[in-house]
Amino acid sequence: MDLGIKGRKAIVCASSRGLGRACALALAEAGVDIVINGRDEAQLAKTESDARAFGVNVSVVMADVSTPEGQQALFAACPEPDILVNNNGGPPFKDFREIDREAMLAGVTMNMVTPMELIRACVDGMGERGFGRIVNITSSSVVSPIAGLDLSSGARAGLTSFLAGVSRTVAPTGVTINQIMPGAFDTDRLRGGFQFASKRTGKSPEELAEARAKSIPAQRFGQPEEFGAACAFLCSAHAGYITGQNLLIDGGAVNKAF
Ligand SMILES: NC(=O)c1ccc[n+]([C@@H]2O[C@H](COP(=O)([O-])OP(=O)(O)OC[C@H]3O[C@@H](n4cnc5c(N)ncnc54)[C@H](OP(=O)(O)O)[C@@H]3O)[C@@H](O)[C@H]2O)c1
Repeated sequence: MDLGIKGRKAIVCASSRGLGRACALALAEAGVDIVINGRDEAQLAKTESDARAFGVNVSVVMADVSTPEGQQALFAACPEPDILVNNNGGPPFKDFREIDREAMLAGVTMNMVTPMELIRACVDGMGERGFGRIVNITSSSVVSPIAGLDLSSGARAGLTSFLAGVSRTVAPTGVTINQIMPGAFDTDRLRGGFQFASKRTGKSPEELAEARAKSIPAQRFGQPEEFGAACAFLCSAHAGYITGQNLLIDGGAVNKAF
């Protein structure tokens, strides 16, 4: 399917690895010029080279997206984005009793305030130009809690509610705002969780990964490319009537009807 966004410009935050990278590559494949972002030079260089293979312009912003300087650098690289994909690292697994005030504020900054700031900075420009697509990577834990990820879930739920109103406010301008809620996708973050759990349980990371995959109705983890394709569709010309939605991609793991 031609996504109808060739020549558009996108900022894809936290996109040197994992789900962000997959979104960046799927947009590049659709002919979108992209800004990629991360804090590791080598990872960024690899993703830059893979994206350039699609013949699009690729800019690299090595910066912490949660900082004002990082955000300024992203908009300096692409002052008038048509597409914004909000992504970031997530707070580490932690018992909620161990999360002090500083950690709470850092988690909320990462997963709620940062996307709010980035959206505020570009949404009106998109509206004036009559086209905008904003996709926020949240988590299935927003609807189905995971112990140890409470801060991540709470901050992302806050973002989701904040944007539920904003998406309707800007809908007349041709800008859509949606969330994708990943379940278990095979990325460094997911694998890191098994390493962490291995130390607590004494089971090997491989054993834990296998058990987790088997617990999912699809009996496997999602592949980042599957996630990227869904993101690119939500950014496409065909998705202009989809806004304020939360797309759960989890192989059926969250057991619910609606
Ligand atoms: N994978 C899953 O199963 C899953 C499930 C639910 C939710 N999620 C959420 O989805 C998001 C992406 O997950 P993932 O699995 O793709 O993670 P990942 O494999 O760890 O990749 C994270 C990416 O974000 C970049 N990054 C992290 N912190 C950054 C910062 N402050 N500024 C700029 N870039 C930053 C990393 O690059 P550098 O480290 O080089 O900066 C990397 O490119 C996370 O918020 C995660 O909590 C993932």
